[in-house]
Amino acid sequence: MLTSYKSILNKAYQGGYAVGAFNCLSLENVMGVIAAAEELHSPVILQLAEVQFPYAPMELMAPLFLKAAHQSSVPVAVHLDHGQSFETCARAIRMGFNSVMFDGACLPFENNVSITKAVVRMAKAADVDVEAELGKVGDTGFGGGEGTGSASTADVFTDVEESALFIEKTGIDALAIAIGNLHGKYIATPKLNIKRLTEISERNNMPLVLHGGSGTSEEDFKACVHHGIAKINVATAMQIAITQKIEKYLQQCPQPNYIDMKWKMIEASKETALYHLRLFESEGKAL
Ligand code: 13P
Ligand code: ZN
Ligand code: NA
Repeated sequence: MLTSYKSILNKAYQGGYAVGAFNCLSLENVMGVIAAAEELHSPVILQLAEVQFPYAPMELMAPLFLKAAHQSSVPVAVHLDHGQSFETCARAIRMGFNSVMFDGACLPFENNVSITKAVVRMAKAADVDVEAELGKVGDTGFGGGEGTGSASTADVFTDVEESALFIEKTGIDALAIAIGNLHGKYIATPKLNIKRLTEISERNNMPLVLHGGSGTSEEDFKACVHHGIAKINVATAMQIAITQKIEKYLQQCPQPNYIDMKWKMIEASKETALYHLRLFESEGKAL
C-alpha cells in the first residue's frame, strides 16, 4: 500500500533497521523490487532522480510507481530523489510522489536552508515528506550520469553542529549525510566514518539517509543500520546486476529473444533488492 515516507522511516529508525530505496528506471525494475519486498514482507521505497528523467521521464514513471505502491501488500513510498530545484519538487508533488528530496548540498549553507525550507512549506501543505542533504556525497556518477569522480573526504563530511542547525531551521523529515559514501562504483571498497555517523545520530533525533549504497561493504552497511541510518539508496548495483545477467544470457543463448531478456531484467532487479533488504534487516518488518 502507498505509505508515507515519514512513517516508514520513523519505524525503521526506532526499530534499528533501514529501508531499501531503489532507483527504478523501468517496469522490470519496479516489478523486481516489489516482488522482493513482498517475498520478504519488507517495506520499500521506489525512487527516481532528476538526472534520470531523460531516459525515465517522471511523468511516465510516476503513475507506474504509484500503481505498484497502491496494489502492493507491503508499505511502499514513492520518492523524488535528488530534486535539483524547488520547481522539480513541485512537479513531483503534483505527479503524486509522497516524498521529495531537495538536494542543495552543493549550495552555501544559508541557500540550502532557505530553499529546503520553502520546499518543506510547500510539501507539508500537500502532506508530502521531505529529505535534504548536508555535506557532499562523493560522485563517480550513477544512473549512467557523469560524476565528478571525486570521493567524499573528511573536509566534506556532514558537520555535527551544522546538521542540528539545519534540521532545526528547515523542518525536514530525514537528513542525507556524507560520511565517506560515494555515488556510483567505488574504485576500492571505502571505509565509512561510523564515528561521525554516531555523533550526528546522537545529536539529532532524526532518521538519517545513506546515499551511494552500491559498493559499500556488508560490515559498513550493518554498522550504518545500527547507528541511525533508516534509508539506504541503491542505484548502480541494480544496473550492474542486470547488465551482467543479460551479458551471460547473450553468451549462453544462441537465439536470444526480448521476452526472455525482460524476465532476466526482472530477476536481476529482484535479486539485487532481496540481497539489500536482507542486509538492511528490514525483512519481516511489514508484518
Ligand atoms: P549508488 O548508485 O552508489 O547506489 O547511489 C544511489 C543513490 O544514492 C541514489 O540517490
Ligand atoms: Zn543519491
Ligand atoms: Na556507491
